Amino acid sequence: MIIAPSLLAADYGRFAKETGRADRSGAEWLHLDIMDGHFVPNISFGPAVVKSIRPLSRMFFDVHLMCSKPEILLEPFARAGADQITVHVELGDAVTPLLWKIRSLGKQVGLCVNPPTAIGLAQPYLDQIDHLLIMTVNPGFGGQEFIHEAVPKIQQAAAWRRERNLPYRIGVDGGINFKTAVECARAGADVFVSGTTLFGQRNLKAAVEKMRKLVTAAHPRNHMATAMAKVST
Ligand code: DX5
Ligand code: ZN
Repeated sequence: MIIAPSLLAADYGRFAKETGRADRSGAEWLHLDIMDGHFVPNISFGPAVVKSIRPLSRMFFDVHLMCSKPEILLEPFARAGADQITVHVELGDAVTPLLWKIRSLGKQVGLCVNPPTAIGLAQPYLDQIDHLLIMTVNPGFGGQEFIHEAVPKIQQAAAWRRERNLPYRIGVDGGINFKTAVECARAGADVFVSGTTLFGQRNLKAAVEKMRKLVTAAHPRNHMATAMAKVST
């Protein structure tokens, strides 16, 4: 299970300090929300910020591009130190070349699905990606309410993964708190992006540990392991 604090909820006057806090929290990933003021009605930060914090952490840098023209940003973010780059399935015909380009840059490949978008739109790409990110709020802002209607998409993505024996991870992003994280873990999610709930805590390390413990206990894989252990004893 992977916990990914989102830097979007950090103190923007102290990116370096906040990156250090995330690094010491034990979270595996740092989620970096890139907004262009066009694909979403907000602007966050760019490759220069990512480059400046890269030397401060060994965390996996998970770049989420909420941008209308990601093709112009892939190389800059790859050079800035991204480990994975995620683009949106809503970009239609642009998706296939984007996924290829991310792979050719030697980065892990992510695909993201917005709440109003059918999960079926992601289906043709599942064998080409490392990460399927399911939005559980409409992207653009932190601190929004979790959209419960997105949960069946997690179940569907987990079912396809089982049936086709594919290795992609399933992430959830938006409104993830200790309660909604458990709901998503039960449905089969294994990456938990959380901004407000984690960065809002004075003790980020304790919050990350708490979330990891809760989602690990709730994940179907662990339920299965417990059941099998019971059968074999
Ligand atoms: C939403 C972003 C999220 C955001 C989540 O547009 O993609 O990653 O940071 O923030 P919270 O956890 O506050 O909903
Ligand atoms: Zn995000």
